[in-house]
Amino acid sequence: MSAQRILVIEESTVAAALTTALTEAGHSVTAVASAAKGVEALASTPEYDLLIAGLSMTQADGVHLLDRCKQEHPDIPVIVLAAAKDAPQALTAVREGAYDFLVKPLDHDPLILAVSRALEHRRLKRENQAYRVSAAQSSGAQDPEHLRQVMTNLQQSYDLTLEIAADLQNLKDAESVAHAKRVTAFTIALSRALGLSSEDIRVVARGAMLHDIGMIAVPDAIIQKPSPLTATEMRILREHSFQGYQVLKKIPFLSEAAEVVYAHEERYDGTGFPRGLKGQAIPMGARIFCVAHALDAILTDRPYRQAKSLPEARVEIAQLAGKQFDPAVVRVFLDMPDRVWANLRSEIEKQAQGLPIP
Ligand SMILES: [Fe+2]
Ligand SMILES: [Fe+2]
Repeated sequence: MSAQRILVIEESTVAAALTTALTEAGHSVTAVASAAKGVEALASTPEYDLLIAGLSMTQADGVHLLDRCKQEHPDIPVIVLAAAKDAPQALTAVREGAYDFLVKPLDHDPLILAVSRALEHRRLKRENQAYRVSAAQSSGAQDPEHLRQVMTNLQQSYDLTLEIAADLQNLKDAESVAHAKRVTAFTIALSRALGLSSEDIRVVARGAMLHDIGMIAVPDAIIQKPSPLTATEMRILREHSFQGYQVLKKIPFLSEAAEVVYAHEERYDGTGFPRGLKGQAIPMGARIFCVAHALDAILTDRPYRQAKSLPEARVEIAQLAGKQFDPAVVRVFLDMPDRVWANLRSEIEKQAQGLPIP
């Protein structure tokens, strides 16, 4: 842990002793000898992690230090130092918001202990705040407005690419279209949770919608072969990422999405294809898509196995973090509530019933 910044507001003898003890304990200490200077110092950046003030300093120079600190720096804990006879006032200070008080003369060990407790308190408080912010962001994923936005994005991506997709043999299969739509909706929801810009989300969504478009270059005899593929057949099948890329990169509004298509079969640990890209070398969109794609595959019935539940999907995907998937994407995925995926699936189901499938 880097050195914690401690501000001491106390008369010079006590301040000197404190500075020595706290510096030896690895902290960075600034000492001032008046409440007014203390207020000035508190305004500096970066913020102090802890304030230690003599009781007489907390109400001096016309400054009510605890009030100022509470209002302007609510995250900075305050330890008040008081002589034994002033303990009742020190307790009042604690009631008014100080974190703790210590009786002078100060003993080394209780001082260090009180300081680490206060610093730990601040750390937990900050962690808590960060958690609340991220919970508020991910709870945005649960509300109807969020669902509506994802569906609007999905609709736009679908509109733009449908014409092309509908002309292509493989996407005339209803299940392929439904799969592409679910994967696209999942990809959009994950991209939103990861904080991608609207423009980037559009690119990733188009890539997701057309991820297997290159399969048109693969003979049906290979796609539908019931037995294991030979090495040559496997090589041909694996070319579908590049084939799709080549087609899409020529279309101006799909040229960026083409990169997602090219990399959609890559794996985070470098064992994917066609280029064996590893980690951050895989475009972000493709890393997001891979998690969304796996989620849909796990949740959907296949000829050779039954669909699994969302909790099972979470476990499977979590186990592959760092192997098949980017751990950062998996982390965000695991923070998202199940209802996001369930809502999207049922929304797409409803839409499919209302819309003619090309
Ligand atoms: Fe593929
Ligand atoms: Fe797929």
